[in-house]
Amino acid sequence: MATPASSIPRHVAIIMDGNGRWAKDRGLPRIKGHEQGAEAVRECVEGCGDLKIEFLTLYAFSAENWQRPKAEVFALMHLLERFLKEKTQELFDKNVRLQAIGRLTDLPPSCQKQLHKSIERTSGNNGLTLILALSYGSRLEIIDGVKDLLREVQAGHIDSAMIDVEMFSKHLYTRYYPDPDLLIRTSGEMRLSNFLLWQLSYTEIYVTPKLWPDFTRQDLFAAVEDYGQRQRRYGLVCSD
Ligand code: FPP
Repeated sequence: MATPASSIPRHVAIIMDGNGRWAKDRGLPRIKGHEQGAEAVRECVEGCGDLKIEFLTLYAFSAENWQRPKAEVFALMHLLERFLKEKTQELFDKNVRLQAIGRLTDLPPSCQKQLHKSIERTSGNNGLTLILALSYGSRLEIIDGVKDLLREVQAGHIDSAMIDVEMFSKHLYTRYYPDPDLLIRTSGEMRLSNFLLWQLSYTEIYVTPKLWPDFTRQDLFAAVEDYGQRQRRYGLVCSD
């Protein structure tokens, strides 16, 4: 499927939803859905590489996900660690630079260790930046940013009158990345689920009924093609 270069989003963010339903439909335990979801991650990363997308942020584990049954949380952490262990070389070979956002210190120590190892190993790459949102919650991120700024005001480093959108953005976990141009959510749900609430202010949203484990490279291309038809207005009037 051809997509004109001008319509390629610089940053794609994805809420990968539907792993549990995918497994349930097949009479399988939920973790099998997550395992298949990890395969879809691999294919999506490749698809982004094909399209020369610069940033891909994946909502891999939310701050709220800790409240899932212990066994599922354990299995997800194990899957993440295994994914990183097994796929880092492949990410490196594909010139992918791995990054992570969220309260990473909440992750089990062995998982944190592997994550930092994988980030370090790919840090010199200059292709796709793959950002995993882990133990991530947007409201927590905003509160952390506010606390940071308050500390700077109290220390006399900045005047509160200087605080504007740009300065606040520099106090979020995402300070090194542009805001997403396109948000994809799978499994048909019409929610943001506490994901990048500040950063998605002007992002184009694409919802597909496909469950995440069934999401293919072609589905990514279809989403990007749909994005190419959008007219982004940023609150201004239509140009035609
Ligand atoms: C939502 O599906 C998905 C998650 C909570 C976890 C996402 C994890 C993966 C895609 C696999 C591992 C990721 C990496 C980066 C290795 P759900 O369980 O809420 O599905 P449901 O709504 O159908 O129950």
